Amino acid sequence: MATAVFLTNCFFNHSLINKPFSHRLPAIQTKIFPLKASKMEGSEITEEKNDEILEEKKKVFVAGATGNTGKRIVNQLLAKGFAVKAGVRDIDKAKTIFTGNNPHLQFVKADVTEGSDKLADAIGENLDAVICATGFRPSWNLLSPWQVDNFGTVSLVEACRKCKVNRFILVSSILVNGAAMGQLLNPAYIFLNVVGLTLIAKLQAEQYIRKSGINYTIVRPGGLKNDPPSGNVVMEPEDTLYEGSISRDQVAEVAVEALLYPESHYKVVEIVARADAPQRSFQELFGAIKQR
Ligand SMILES: NC(=O)c1ccc[n+]([C@@H]2O[C@H](COP(=O)([O-])OP(=O)(O)OC[C@H]3O[C@@H](n4cnc5c(N)ncnc54)[C@H](OP(=O)(O)O)[C@@H]3O)[C@@H](O)[C@H]2O)c1
Repeated sequence: MATAVFLTNCFFNHSLINKPFSHRLPAIQTKIFPLKASKMEGSEITEEKNDEILEEKKKVFVAGATGNTGKRIVNQLLAKGFAVKAGVRDIDKAKTIFTGNNPHLQFVKADVTEGSDKLADAIGENLDAVICATGFRPSWNLLSPWQVDNFGTVSLVEACRKCKVNRFILVSSILVNGAAMGQLLNPAYIFLNVVGLTLIAKLQAEQYIRKSGINYTIVRPGGLKNDPPSGNVVMEPEDTLYEGSISRDQVAEVAVEALLYPESHYKVVEIVARADAPQRSFQELFGAIKQR
């Protein structure tokens, strides 16, 4: 499994640079309601009247929250003031990854191969958006990429419809449409399709999303790195990039920022990081991509 991950990363060209990563944290819209303080005079229990306030946060469901990108998405959402429902296969594992009992983080069991009804139960009510950061885990099951990266993502979109969630962010991959881009002989395209038709599975799911009517942003990153960000994000329209790499921190940032800017709506964006790229705001980056 480690070999497969290593090879996957090697097939994407790495562009390493030393520019700082933008830590801009845009404020999200929150409604502030005064919490009524209760005071029981004349009884044994006396509560001090206080001016506590309760913030109503926007709530996002993250599928694949224990993954390398998924956990970064969860952490960035929390840091930016969202409440998070983390969809995970193993809640005990999730508790070892997210320590500290954040009251705005909730874990719920969600296996995307178990169908849209179960996923709808997991998503529940009053969610504002779903971010999908799942990816098959290498195993002897050759159908796994198709079950997770195609059918699993489709089920998640169906679950969104059942739960009346109309915002969906997908972490996909560059080269999913490699055949149409003339990249049939690109080693990354060949390798990732030899492993269970992974890129074709992802492309099928993307096509379903785009026809579904849901307000989507499909984020297609280049090769993923766990290293801290280096270089600035380059964002291009679909079927443009066929090499390059990017830190998972930046991928998570793009997925979360997509929730903040309407310029990202109904768009497919491809991203890598490059040393020579100018630093641009996410609004500018998303805004420069034409809707198709
Ligand atoms: N590796 C690359 O260079 C590269 C490049 C471009 C795009 N991508 C894509 O980017 C996405 C994120 O990649 P990553 O490397 O950060 O992911 P990752 O670390 O491999 O994590 C995958 C996540 O998917 C979850 N998952 C697997 N099967 C599932 C199922 N049946 N139901 C629910 N969740 C399931 C895993 O859960 P568990 O934690 O329970 O296993 C894990 O949370 C993936 O779609 C990947 O294909 C990868």
